[in-house]
Amino acid sequence: MSDTTHDSRQWFAPIPEDRRRRFAASSQNGIHITLAAQSLVNFASNDYLGLRNHPQLKEAAITAIQKDGMGSGASRLISGDHPQLHQLEHELAAWKGYESCLVVGSGMLANIGLIQALADRHTHVFCDKLNHASLVDGVRLSGAKTHRFSHRDYNTLSTLLEKNNASKRIIVSDGVFSMDGDCADVAQLLSLAEHYDTLLLLDDAHGIGCMGNNNRGLSSNIAGHGRLIEVGTFGKSFGGYGAFILGTDELIEGLKQRLRTMIYSTALPAAMPAAMLESLKLIQTGTLQKKLQDNVELFRKQTITLKLLPSETAIQALIMGSDGDALAAAQTLRNAGFFVPAIRPPTVPEGTSRLRITLSAAHSFEQIEHLTTALKALS
Ligand SMILES: Cc1ncc(COP(=O)(O)O)c(C=O)c1O
Repeated sequence: MSDTTHDSRQWFAPIPEDRRRRFAASSQNGIHITLAAQSLVNFASNDYLGLRNHPQLKEAAITAIQKDGMGSGASRLISGDHPQLHQLEHELAAWKGYESCLVVGSGMLANIGLIQALADRHTHVFCDKLNHASLVDGVRLSGAKTHRFSHRDYNTLSTLLEKNNASKRIIVSDGVFSMDGDCADVAQLLSLAEHYDTLLLLDDAHGIGCMGNNNRGLSSNIAGHGRLIEVGTFGKSFGGYGAFILGTDELIEGLKQRLRTMIYSTALPAAMPAAMLESLKLIQTGTLQKKLQDNVELFRKQTITLKLLPSETAIQALIMGSDGDALAAAQTLRNAGFFVPAIRPPTVPEGTSRLRITLSAAHSFEQIEHLTTALKALS
């Protein structure tokens, strides 16, 4: 007898048409993206420096594939470890100013594994309400007691820390917030961590490589502090895929024994560390970041009359309010030759559907001027 409740076609409640997430199969050619046979200027990529397409990265990856093959074949603790993963960890730690580094499969894997390894049900974690989903899920998986504070409201954080004592406590925050483009005050977070005796976990996926002193991210003045654990990713400024965790020698050694998302997951293929070593060299020159900063300044100057969220980063958000308005605006921009996605709940809070514009060093001034003209024509 068939039981209809266990028919997979009926398992999930239907999602209304206007809330449905959709894949958008596309090919990309530099800063252009082709969607449904239409070539658009891409303002929806986290490739902030345009490194995704850099010949130096491609050449390093091709050489590594020819030598080592495509996949790594196993987890790092079995046979998938590669000397270039160690070289990359060594160079990242030295550049960022930490004792040690661990490269893992992705930012999602880094965060869910890291918080699960650090915290259990006796731990109290204090989270910014706009933290990335990977941090939220890591906290959930760990079973820790969670306290959420309004976005960047450090007075409330302080009150929560005052009220909720426990032998193990961690403050958890994004660095650059991925949907709003604003920044955590990392110095203030660290001083709260010191005052209240907690750890601080900072995910600066969007800041490392393009923000802070020497583009070392928002933590550049406090990096290496014993209370600070930092996560970065290769999918954004580095133009690749994967992630890394930075901290003290003891922390990283502890993670090698406990990070389930590294222990039980296939290692990154050798092509990735080979290419990311090249990204690191290019990032250290600072040339591309200068172009990105000029692009951000031009964009802000040209959109002074628009109600953009405050942001000095490559992420610029124009709140539209309703889902329908955001979708309609995204379609108008698409008709004008730009790919700017509408971001809707549950990715962002209800009533804050928005256009999320991401700028890159690969955009020309002309492309930015054309986009800002189209944005101004929306209202
Ligand atoms: C702040 C932040 N952390 C982590 C991640 C996840 O990183 P990955 O794409 O490497 O899984 C993202 C988005 O990709 C992010 O925006």
